[in-house]
Amino acid sequence: MTDLLDVPAAKGDGSDAASDPTWWRQAAVYQIYPRSFADSDGDGIGNLRGITSRADYLAALGIDAVWLSPFYPSALADGGYDVADYRDVDPRIGTLDDFDEMVAALHGAGIRVVVDIVPNHTSDLHEWFREALASPKGSPARDRYIFRDGLGADGELPPADWTSTFGGPAWEPVGDGQWYFHHFATEQPDLNWDNPEVREDFLHTLRFWSDRGVDGFRIDVAHMLTKDLPAPGEPLPPQAELEAMPRDGRHPLFDRDDVHEVYAGWREVFDAYDPPRTAVAEAWVESAERRARYASKEGLGQAFNFDLLEADFDAAQFRRIITANLELAATSGSSTTWVFSNHDVVRHATRYGLPPRGDRPGKGGAEWLLAGGPERELDRAAGLARARAATMLELALPGSSYLYQGEELGLHEVADIPDDERQDPSFFRNPGVDMGRDGCRVPLPWTTDGPSFGFGDGPAHLPQPAWFADHAAGAQDGVEGSTLELYRAALALRRKLQTGEELEWLETGPADVLAFRRPNGWVSVTNFGDAPVPLPDGEVLLSSAPLDGGVLPGATTAWVMAR
Ligand code: NOJ
Repeated sequence: MTDLLDVPAAKGDGSDAASDPTWWRQAAVYQIYPRSFADSDGDGIGNLRGITSRADYLAALGIDAVWLSPFYPSALADGGYDVADYRDVDPRIGTLDDFDEMVAALHGAGIRVVVDIVPNHTSDLHEWFREALASPKGSPARDRYIFRDGLGADGELPPADWTSTFGGPAWEPVGDGQWYFHHFATEQPDLNWDNPEVREDFLHTLRFWSDRGVDGFRIDVAHMLTKDLPAPGEPLPPQAELEAMPRDGRHPLFDRDDVHEVYAGWREVFDAYDPPRTAVAEAWVESAERRARYASKEGLGQAFNFDLLEADFDAAQFRRIITANLELAATSGSSTTWVFSNHDVVRHATRYGLPPRGDRPGKGGAEWLLAGGPERELDRAAGLARARAATMLELALPGSSYLYQGEELGLHEVADIPDDERQDPSFFRNPGVDMGRDGCRVPLPWTTDGPSFGFGDGPAHLPQPAWFADHAAGAQDGVEGSTLELYRAALALRRKLQTGEELEWLETGPADVLAFRRPNGWVSVTNFGDAPVPLPDGEVLLSSAPLDGGVLPGATTAWVMAR
């Protein structure tokens, strides 16, 4: 292959790279789900010290930053996205000192740190919500949330028939005739973003973590914060009416134009730091155009683009999505983002081992996979081959790549978690319909044996299947052709080759083949079909599967340096 793999070591803090204000534009960001990454104390729950102990692994992987899903105090009604205190660490996960040590270790390894901010809702254990429950109707404490009187003689009926994103009702009674609104689980009351105290408190939280050295923020459901509801006492629109309304900036609940006033205030906080703190919005909005608003430099600066995550392994779909998002990024001034897997979706190695989405009934994800038993029509080998090819394609694209822990090990979804060991509220709120997201959150296998495959000294908080042994980091370390070594090689090359944010499509002829070239001659070619195709001219740098002479096999990506 190539001596380009002989790349310089990552730079630590204090170097020019560490103060580069544009670092995020083409970063490779690795998402850590802290409870499932590494457990240093054997209680079955991953923790911050576990992350610190794996700083060398992360540095060797070659990522630029980690994004940590919530590690704050939480009753875990929604995997930590029910935050009881935004400025502390859950005691099961560590302490603020552990956090500082982790940041120092990661920065020392040249890795930036992004943390998750969950501003739409708190936990019902947050001191504000407890105060709201202990306070009367109409009190300032209740005004931090969204309370309304119930209907019926004594308020015994909900104020509206709205359903929660996780299924079931979205209004919960508190026993005195009032009800509160929750987009997600019952334990996640929505905040009232018209309340100045709410706005001020989040500025405080952003400064708190920025002062501790955090480099950026991932903003949970960034499109849901502001609401425009009728005043207390006025009737609320029914669910059917809400669903029929366009999400064009004026919807009462989603993607309202006025949410950007909040982010303009946050931008002032980010820009008060050197380098400015970054942010990426999780915004599931109607169109790519509306998503661009969240990526504006007056606001959060970048937004997740989930279009590839929602696509099949299909050349035409990939090309359309890539072209559209690069054009959009050019107009917004941001850089685009690419994601195949995260803590909310079925892992991409598994998705690509299933029939195309259009051929799957129902919701088309894990539910379908599980309906007829865990192995129904899942082709594990094909899924992993396609995932490896897709990831190499992704890493050659302009923009940021967000990787999810375990994908570098080629992990599949864990489909067969017993019902009584599941944790996700979307499973419990939709009995028999939604299998939930636990299958992508199972703790990582580090070694081929041990009580939790090296995750910790005891059993893990979600059961790991026996096949995890084959995927353990220890089983892949130094093994040519392993998925771990492929990620390491690809990330090292990406760092070396990264260039201007342009892409030129190369017309290859076959409809199943996508090839593009970056400004410095770095060519990525992916064969989405089954039949082998000729490779472009040039020096082959890396491929996601062994190359057969001068041809590119099906479900394979190769990187070539054009001569
Ligand atoms: C989006 C997060 O990614 C998801 O895990 C969570 O359940 C919801 N927001 C609610 O916070």
